[in-house]
Amino acid sequence: MSAGTVLAIAIPILVILAAAVAFTSARRRDAGNLGQLSRETRSRDRVGVAHTAEGTASGREVEKAAVLERIGGDLEPVVEAAPPAKWTPPDPETLGVTRRQVLNRSAITLMLLSISGFGAASLAFLWPQVKGGFGAKVKVGTRADVDAAIAAAQPAPNFAYFVEAQAYIQPYPADALEAAAAVYPENILAGMREGYVALWQKCPHLGCKVPACASSQWFECPCHGSQYNRVGEKKAGPAPRGMDQFPIIFDGDDVIIDTGTVVQGPVIGTNTTNQGLEGPHCTSGGHG
Ligand code: FES
Repeated sequence: MSAGTVLAIAIPILVILAAAVAFTSARRRDAGNLGQLSRETRSRDRVGVAHTAEGTASGREVEKAAVLERIGGDLEPVVEAAPPAKWTPPDPETLGVTRRQVLNRSAITLMLLSISGFGAASLAFLWPQVKGGFGAKVKVGTRADVDAAIAAAQPAPNFAYFVEAQAYIQPYPADALEAAAAVYPENILAGMREGYVALWQKCPHLGCKVPACASSQWFECPCHGSQYNRVGEKKAGPAPRGMDQFPIIFDGDDVIIDTGTVVQGPVIGTNTTNQGLEGPHCTSGGHG
């Protein structure tokens, strides 16, 4: 399983877990507030209620009785206070939402939005097939379009470059198919039987873009001088193999390059077309 697929599965799971933790924590805070005393009870506490042998009297009543006793007056009978009202839990709806709860919920909402945005951006980055372009299947035109591009290619005829696929589509000679069958995998041979091979622009040595040379009719890398024939088989230089390839898919008359599937170039010494040098080199390379 690729790293992109693992992240695509892991990120939504993390978002769901974060949402569950946030929801549980908010419920706990709400439940904690249900244990508050009623307003009436708190009011009685402030006034102060004393429990006497005769019943319950307020602090003021007890104090007044003590004063009367001290000055020798008659002690007024203590009026029995009404029993405390039965406590009923306050309705959360009537309590309303505290400022702290608003702040907590806002912070949690912002955190969830941030995680979701990050997850979506990661998926978009790691999942290029969703939006097409390089890394996906790239339609480059009809067969007639490709043939016209090969014939009119500039600056080197026979080298048709398609920027959106970062690849060349090169003509593959029919008389080389027998030799090719012993070298190339089936997904590359399928394109060769139709007369084409798709080559990645990236040099297999250190990754420079490899341009075509109009005079030699080879690919010649300007970085360290690796050279490849017209179908990407290595001829000279430090590269470890021929140019990497992409399968070509034919959908009716449409030609599609599957840039999501990179096929390693042929081993050094492969020469299925026997194409020799057709003119002067464009680079002074060939060393290594
Ligand atoms: S990058 Fe092409 S030869 Fe080194």
